[in-house]
Amino acid sequence: MSGGSSGEPRLGIATRVVHGAGFEDLGSGAVVPPLVVSATFDHSNPGRMVYGREHNPTWTLLERAIADLEDGHGAVAFGSGMAGVAAVLALVPKGAKVVAARDSYTGTRELLLQMESAGRFEVDLIDTTDQDALGRAAAGAAMIWLETLGNPLLSVPDLARGALVSRQAGALLVVDNTFATPILCRPLTLGADLVVHSASKYIGGHDDLILGVVAARDGDLLRRLTDHRTSHGACPGQLEAWLALRGLRTLDVRLARQTASAQFLAAALAGAPGVLRVHYPGLSEHPQHGLAQSQFQGRFGAMISIELDLAAELAERFCAATRIWTNATSLGSVESLLERRARWPGDAHLPAGLVRLSVGVEDPDDLLSDLRQALVSVGLVV
Ligand SMILES: Cc1ncc(COP(=O)(O)O)c(C=O)c1O
Repeated sequence: MSGGSSGEPRLGIATRVVHGAGFEDLGSGAVVPPLVVSATFDHSNPGRMVYGREHNPTWTLLERAIADLEDGHGAVAFGSGMAGVAAVLALVPKGAKVVAARDSYTGTRELLLQMESAGRFEVDLIDTTDQDALGRAAAGAAMIWLETLGNPLLSVPDLARGALVSRQAGALLVVDNTFATPILCRPLTLGADLVVHSASKYIGGHDDLILGVVAARDGDLLRRLTDHRTSHGACPGQLEAWLALRGLRTLDVRLARQTASAQFLAAALAGAPGVLRVHYPGLSEHPQHGLAQSQFQGRFGAMISIELDLAAELAERFCAATRIWTNATSLGSVESLLERRARWPGDAHLPAGLVRLSVGVEDPDDLLSDLRQALVSVGLVV
């Protein structure tokens, strides 16, 4: 369905998110992919699926669709984003070095540090937007772990440069593309080896599933990740894979609205009373704005962090005072969420008043008015 294989022009990504999975109907005329719940398969079946921990046709459709969108050799779906992260980290040889962003997702950072404490490998956490630091740290590394948008300050590492440095060091380059999605950025085309997604976020897009997907550049990596999933039982539920496929079909239109609203909100909040700083790569003052412009094809994502001139307790009251925004962790869904990040032990070093916003698809004027009334309620705007 992706086109281009026999000299035809390749279909646009907005078409491929809707039709990319393709599927063979059994004669019913169904227009959406099937949800197959079978836990085992007839030994004589021609597709050679055997057992539900190893194979599932609905997973396969999702994996094909993500591999196509990410320009990968293939993809492997996991029971959660973290199951995918763990499978990728299992590729690192014992005693080797992993370089990762200091502002990686807290769960990834915590797992890296746990594995380091257990003696599994050495971890070097650095500012991955600092080219010199990355160049120095890469020497002797087996894996370099970048995130297309850092969490929660929305830093933007140079992925092509990261790929160059990784190649020179003989390291695998892994990019967590959860925040950007393949709509904004396709790291494999810039030289990455593996792309990780928490599909619980934008790919699913409705806060109704937990799932991970890893896209791989080559067949060997794909096989090793698939074997890990089977032997660790890190497989997704069939319904979750089907929900992710359903969510995927609206990814482009959701993100178009969400990124436009985020740009509007970031501009409106920058300089608002009581807002000390707005972190958003679409603002010209963002330190990697120029890079983000080229790397993300003119869109800057739908995550914003704002630093409020508030201590922890009042910042929590601000989060609780919103009526449309929900005070909850996670991101990427149709409904807008916000949370004070320093509430988490892994992010306790962040300013107490730093609030991360995941912009949904609601009316952007309503979203802004709601933030304004919450600012008024804590005395920041009169
Ligand atoms: C960037 C990023 N990667 C990975 C994960 C882990 O995904 P999951 O919650 O699906 O296990 C998250 C979860 O918040 C995330 O934000």
